[in-house]
Amino acid sequence: MNSSNGPIGLFDSGVGGLTVARAIARRLPKEDILYFGDTAHLPYGEKSPDSIRKFSLEIANHLIKKGAKIIVIACNSASAIAYEFLSENLDVPVFNVIDPIIQELEKYKSQNIGIWGTRATINSNVYQKKLKKSLPNAKVRSTATPLLVPLIEENQLNGNITESLIKYYLDKSEVNDVHHLVLACTHYPLIASQISKQLKSRVKLLRTPSIVAEHLEIELKKMQLLKKDNSSINHHFTVSDITPTFKKIGKIFFGAGITFEEENIWESNSI
Ligand code: DGL
Repeated sequence: MNSSNGPIGLFDSGVGGLTVARAIARRLPKEDILYFGDTAHLPYGEKSPDSIRKFSLEIANHLIKKGAKIIVIACNSASAIAYEFLSENLDVPVFNVIDPIIQELEKYKSQNIGIWGTRATINSNVYQKKLKKSLPNAKVRSTATPLLVPLIEENQLNGNITESLIKYYLDKSEVNDVHHLVLACTHYPLIASQISKQLKSRVKLLRTPSIVAEHLEIELKKMQLLKKDNSSINHHFTVSDITPTFKKIGKIFFGAGITFEEENIWESNSI
């Protein structure tokens, strides 16, 4: 087990998980963050469960070797597919971005829930499985909305194309009368206000990053794992394949000051 003064290890399939990293940095400003974005292998939303589990374990082990005191799976697809596997195979606490949302839905006793996510997340039925016990009568309508990911990565956060695609998915998923719509993908918070505009006002959008950051603060306090020393704050961002596009998107997702390093943690013959 690494020291409580070690960084929070966070990973995602790419730079989308920076929405979660940013929420954690705001909520826990004294904590160090070690981020790994697997840009060489994205999108995880279109990968097989075996590949997602394999990549996730290798990345998590890498972060732990570098001193991470906990692992946060910032990616919804990896949270849906690899969380149990990582929890069983790692000796630091592992957090996912789904359980905090489940707790939020339980708090509201939500009976009519919409889920938007990648194919991997939606095909896993993870929300239905987790809600079965606590909200057995809840109606859960989940829809894969993968086209939103490349659109957001193209910085199309407003405008006609985004509006039309949101309308298309709203019609397809029939979520205009749900109580809660879960934005179960790292990228979607960036277009939350565009989605809200087209939804009936009583539909509450659940934005994963802020809910996860709040949950993490509570859990780290309980586990006495909040950073104790007052050393300077260190945020370190690495990706497995660096390109000008990822650098640009990183700024949209986290903020202007972000810089990336490239790190290939795989043997050259295993990619
Ligand atoms: N980070 C992924 C997620 O939250 C979205 C992008 C991808 O498919 O890799 O599910």
